[in-house]
Amino acid sequence: MKRLFFALAALSSVLCATAQSVPHKFDVNTRKAGAEIASTMYGIFFEDVNFAADGGLYAELVKNRSFEFPDHYMGWKVYGNVQLKDDGPFERNPHYVRLAYSGHDHRRTGLDNDGFTGIGYKEGAEYRFSVWARVPEGGEGVFKVLLCENYSQDLNQHFSQATIKIDSKEWKKYQVVLKSTKRTDKGFLRVILDKESAVVDLEHISLFPVDTWKGRENGLRKDLAEALYDLKPGVLRFPGGCIVEGVDLDTRYQWKNSVGAVENRPLNENKWNYSFSHRLFPDYFQSYGLGFYEYFVLAEDLGAEPLPVLNAGMACQFQNKELRDNKAHASLAQLQPYIDDAFDLIEFANGDPQKSEWAKLRADMGHPEPFNLKYLAIGNEQWGDIYVENLKIFVEQLRKRYPHIKIVGGAGSAPSGKRFSHLWPEMTKLGVDLVDEHFYRNEEWFLASGTRYDNYDRKGPKVFAGEYACHGKGKKWNHFHASLLEAAFLTGVERNADIVTMATYAPLFANINAWTWRPDMIWFDNLRSFRSCTWYFHQLFTHNKGTNVLELTWNGKPVAGTEGQEGLFASAVIDKTTNEIIVKIVNTSDKAQRILLNLNGLSKKPHEGVLTTYRADDIDGENSLDNPTKYTPQSSAIVIDSPNFEVEIAAKSFAMYKIKK
Ligand code: AHR
Repeated sequence: MKRLFFALAALSSVLCATAQSVPHKFDVNTRKAGAEIASTMYGIFFEDVNFAADGGLYAELVKNRSFEFPDHYMGWKVYGNVQLKDDGPFERNPHYVRLAYSGHDHRRTGLDNDGFTGIGYKEGAEYRFSVWARVPEGGEGVFKVLLCENYSQDLNQHFSQATIKIDSKEWKKYQVVLKSTKRTDKGFLRVILDKESAVVDLEHISLFPVDTWKGRENGLRKDLAEALYDLKPGVLRFPGGCIVEGVDLDTRYQWKNSVGAVENRPLNENKWNYSFSHRLFPDYFQSYGLGFYEYFVLAEDLGAEPLPVLNAGMACQFQNKELRDNKAHASLAQLQPYIDDAFDLIEFANGDPQKSEWAKLRADMGHPEPFNLKYLAIGNEQWGDIYVENLKIFVEQLRKRYPHIKIVGGAGSAPSGKRFSHLWPEMTKLGVDLVDEHFYRNEEWFLASGTRYDNYDRKGPKVFAGEYACHGKGKKWNHFHASLLEAAFLTGVERNADIVTMATYAPLFANINAWTWRPDMIWFDNLRSFRSCTWYFHQLFTHNKGTNVLELTWNGKPVAGTEGQEGLFASAVIDKTTNEIIVKIVNTSDKAQRILLNLNGLSKKPHEGVLTTYRADDIDGENSLDNPTKYTPQSSAIVIDSPNFEVEIAAKSFAMYKIKK
């Protein structure tokens, strides 16, 4: 058995330069379980950036389905006799289209939608088309719904079709399921009026795959939701990010607009449509089809604590240098509605439907049981006195009315500097429960930050590493090396689990045809998706976070890539539920390293375990749509004969030893 183990350990060094002759000695104290690791420790942060919601996780395939974009036909091509009307059945989305005979049999009336960079159809898959319709002048309305491949004026481009007949002067919802007979990622949807049809009004034209996550209507794209589920996240932070702030207060995310009937959720601008001049997406809006109810349900599906972020009465500070401008900042006198939004959200999530209108709405939407909300973040990347003043009032009022809700305050947009140093003591004074830190930093920063949390004040608020990502050199984005350095950093988070209780990478999703920000954890196009190396590292930590920290030292010091530590990072935990010791080691150096791992306190008899390694033949390599599993962790069974055993960790690689106690 021992031989088997050493054979496996040796395997992990295939790519390595020669290791040093005397092994480094790592001591793990398995006798004393240290700080508890929060169930929320590793989670996910969802924001509708990079077409992550509309055009991504939210499975709707039609863009501008309610004709509410400022350019009402954006996303559509209309032809024949089509009129835009604005007295529709949904007061917050009043526009719709009227289709009538063109006056000539050969001039057809209809409209096409080309989705979000095209519509993806899978061969054999079913698609649910739905529409609100009426025949305003009576008679029989008849139109065809066609699934089409590649835009063309040639009507024969369709490969699936259905006919819908409208029989009422009143608005009603009609739907039909079509089976696709082709696979295409650049398809489109065509709605075309029959020559003999009466005049027809159409509103909220929608197309979803039937096979959504858990088969829900108005549901989520299955492969993308599965990628979240497979992470086993402990917390889900939503809905942003900068979109919570908005370019101005009018365009901030307003959760109340994101609940109730989807047809009546008003459109909002998405601030990521023009945040970066080199990545402009003037067609990027928020339909709110994926709204707060859906986020809470998703958190429940994932087994994650929901963590909504609410606006603190401040628009994006990057885009509004002068916050005193009324549109960018609510004065103290104007703040109460923002606080009331927080109260109402807590009622929506946790309240009794008999006593609260917001809880009743939750029940009416299909969830009579509370969502058990425990955390609430106020503000995203805010800074300065205005934020502190506003947050103070939120905290005072929230503490009085909902003392059990844990409040998350922010530390600005950077992990150090003037704003950060101003905010942390203020957060401690305000007595928030957690402080949200953001760090999009380069490789050097990640290499140098292994001890970041070792000396944090243990008496103040806990830390939420709310947005982190290593931005690699030379326009390298989701390459293995950046992800490896994030893993190195996470060992420091794990070692400090008494103070850091949440960590979430950002951004989560990116549409490969329409991204604004990278790197990102999960990439997709209209039909395919892939999980980056960061995803796999995050999963390794999430699935193996254990229940308690164990002390791991090298010459009496934590292993955090500090001077003389040869680029090594490590953490150890025990999982009391499975009785396993889990040691994670990251070798960021370019040589193999031999380590004598002393699991002090483990009995001398053989112990079974699993060795998982993660490395890449090319550290600048990454997974891709064409090769989604090019770099994945590899696991194999091991048996150790002694609690003190030698291992060799390949250059630029991760190794995890999971040993049954
Ligand atoms: O994750 C992308 C953006 O980065 C978030 O919206 C914001 O909080 C940060 O600046």
